[in-house]
Amino acid sequence: MMSEKRIYFDNNATTPVDPRVLEAMLPYFTEKFGNAASNTHIFGWDAAEAVDKAREQVASIIGAQANDIVFTSGATESDNIALKGTLEKYSDKGNHLITVKTEHKAILDSAKYLMEKGYRVTFMDVGEDGRVIPEQLEEAITPETVLISVMFANNETGVIHPIEEIGKIAAKHDIFFHCDATQAVGKVPIDVQKLGIHLLSMSGHKIYGPKGVGVLYARSRNPKVRPNPVIHGGGHEQKMRSGTLNVPGIVGIGTACEICERELPTESVMLSNLRDRLENGILERIEEAYVNGSREHRIPNTSNISFNYIEGESIMLTMKNIAVSSGSACTSASLSKSYVLDAMGCTDALAHASLRFSLGRFNTGDEVDYVIGSLVKAVKRLREMSPLYEMAQKGINLDSYKWTDPKHEH
Ligand SMILES: Cc1ncc(COP(=O)(O)O)c(C=O)c1O
Repeated sequence: MMSEKRIYFDNNATTPVDPRVLEAMLPYFTEKFGNAASNTHIFGWDAAEAVDKAREQVASIIGAQANDIVFTSGATESDNIALKGTLEKYSDKGNHLITVKTEHKAILDSAKYLMEKGYRVTFMDVGEDGRVIPEQLEEAITPETVLISVMFANNETGVIHPIEEIGKIAAKHDIFFHCDATQAVGKVPIDVQKLGIHLLSMSGHKIYGPKGVGVLYARSRNPKVRPNPVIHGGGHEQKMRSGTLNVPGIVGIGTACEICERELPTESVMLSNLRDRLENGILERIEEAYVNGSREHRIPNTSNISFNYIEGESIMLTMKNIAVSSGSACTSASLSKSYVLDAMGCTDALAHASLRFSLGRFNTGDEVDYVIGSLVKAVKRLREMSPLYEMAQKGINLDSYKWTDPKHEH
């Protein structure tokens, strides 16, 4: 049997390792295998030198100082340190954290953990466009507020928050500002100084680097912020993150950053062209398809679209050779609807009907055209089978329709 071609439009979940990144990493598994903390011999020095270089490469892409870069196992760990470590360390300043309902689970669950430990957390709403409203942020601040944590760009919708304004508010009130920039690094320019970011999380495997390596940026001056460690041990990474450094992974994330920084101007244009081609193709050829979230304030590779009357999961099952994701897929295997779209005021039906398309460095225009064609067919077929669609065609208003079937749960 001939296998159908496979298309990967799920780059917000993870990206393939760029061959240039892999090439840079390989020697650090074999001939340059040293422990970066072994400071008595050449094996250790080689490893330490590679880590130093990676620290510069990572710092450069976010406009930071190299000595403010802490290597971790990924953005989940960085988020945990930023929230738990900062609230714990600065408990004499207060006990209040402000974050947002649409954050990644690494933030939301760390925040819930802190609540269990007696801290106070405000989970802010977002507007219909998915963005935090700065005035509401200012209203949520109390004399007890220690940290504001707002992601740069949302993983499901790609929507970018008003980061610079949030940075200004944090500075005005003398509060630390953490930003989970996992989905934004490499896709939009980031300058932690200009944006007033004090702590920042990022991950290797979203930027064509390896899985299992990430970064926490923690500013050492103006203001100095030194979160307590979550993992204790040998005191690596200025005591913020103990454990023998993952040298090949660190070389990987460093090289990935260097490539992203260099190629960002052309790659972001390439991605937004592909994204627009996909989005326009879908909206022109499929009726009642709606883009979720701000189309203006968005990273260039992401489009989240609801296809009314059908479930996102059904579309995915119909197009098994195309990798996209539905809102819930990144955190669970259940059919629960996306909490991100829910917080944006999306109806249940439209939240269940959503798909996330996230493009990447290795996608092409031909793939985009193929996906549009497949979607047109899949949506047509599914709507033909959908009783909701049939009712809507007959002019029945589904929002005010009184369901008689007691089993109907929507
Ligand atoms: C916004 C955001 N934060 C954190 C993470 C977690 O990153 P990692 O897989 O490196 O732990 C992800 C990835 O799913 C993400 O999209």
